[in-house]
Amino acid sequence: MATHKLLLLPGDGIGPEVMAEVKRLIDWIDAQGIARFTIENGLVGGAAYDADKLPITDATMAKADAADAIIFGAVGGPKWDSVPYEHRPEAGLLRLRKDLGLFANLRPAVCYPALAESSSLKREVVEGLDIMIVRELTGGVYFGEPKTITDLGNGQKRAVDTQVYDTYEIERIARVAFDLARKRQNKVTSMEKRNVMKSGVLWNEVVTQVHGREYKDVTLEHQLADSGGMNLVKWPKQFDVIVTDNLFGDMLSDIAAMLTGSLGMLPSASLGEVDAKTKKRKAMYEPVHGSAPDIAGKGMANPLAMIASFGMALRYSLEMGELADKVDQAIAAVLAKSLRTADIKSEGATVVSTSGMGEALLKELQALH
Ligand code: NAI
Ligand code: MG
Repeated sequence: MATHKLLLLPGDGIGPEVMAEVKRLIDWIDAQGIARFTIENGLVGGAAYDADKLPITDATMAKADAADAIIFGAVGGPKWDSVPYEHRPEAGLLRLRKDLGLFANLRPAVCYPALAESSSLKREVVEGLDIMIVRELTGGVYFGEPKTITDLGNGQKRAVDTQVYDTYEIERIARVAFDLARKRQNKVTSMEKRNVMKSGVLWNEVVTQVHGREYKDVTLEHQLADSGGMNLVKWPKQFDVIVTDNLFGDMLSDIAAMLTGSLGMLPSASLGEVDAKTKKRKAMYEPVHGSAPDIAGKGMANPLAMIASFGMALRYSLEMGELADKVDQAIAAVLAKSLRTADIKSEGATVVSTSGMGEALLKELQALH
């Protein structure tokens, strides 16, 4: 039986609370004899700053480098508002993404029928929605140089950010999107602004080339990112996989997230390049939400985003795709039974705690197994 190396980084606020429910799931998988795990634990964010005056240490980075999958909770909170900028909790997350080369951010937006009412859109527009946003995460305008604010000396200042993309960066993110589409509805929509941006012209050209060379069996469509955003709220079910750059992906994935209702439900994965020798890729899995200081320590956090993130680890890093499907089915099942944490509560539903939700999920999983 395969043994998988995991690094658990619970972080701050509700991070440790939702991570506890993932641990419960890991123990269950182990007890069922489905797989074995070697588990390392580490500090990140404010928790790491309190211990080591750094948001993540080199020792933890080494563990991250050696892991088959990193499971990350959330970082930050008012307690660390006054720590130096370069040591702020988020810097731990950014270092993980950057040093491990996690260039592909996968954000599924799934609307469970039981939660369709909590979407800001009409039920028929979102019910059964299942799309995947693939955002380029390590390039583009967030990292491009020059990045400056200059005093022009005439009472004016000038701010410059630079959007930069090289061919290889577009090729590799396109491949991630096409590979995912093959396992889904076989359709990719690429979004850029080729009408006003040179990087959009190159993006469009390179995605089209990769498609023509390697993925002719997948349907490829191009949309301008602005009208694409419009289509995302008008008729989101037209999409399967959307691939886009760092900036547009940041916005479009947040929009897609809200189509589905709650922040407490949304998982994500960040993937690196496949190693030619080992065929493995660095990968980190984390919920979209933050450390939720307003509800931390109250046992109220919704653990489903964290659990669904672990489900993505099962699918993309740990070769347990079938079990990942069952985790998704178990999530749908607990919701269908009207069990709700406070963030997704609705009339007539039973409100459960973080651990109550984790237990209910395992019960459903056991029944599906
Ligand atoms: P947040 O996502 O922590 O919370 C926003 C709202 O959603 C809050 O009302 C919170 O109670 C609720 N919420 C979030 N996750 C929930 C869950 N699992 N169950 C139930 N309710 C949930 O975002 P906010 O408040 O803007 O940031 C709080 C802290 O988290 C800040 O320090 C911020 O920098 C950090 N943060 C960290 C992220 C990360 O670690 N990836 C991402 C976003 C924010
Ligand atoms: Mg964002």
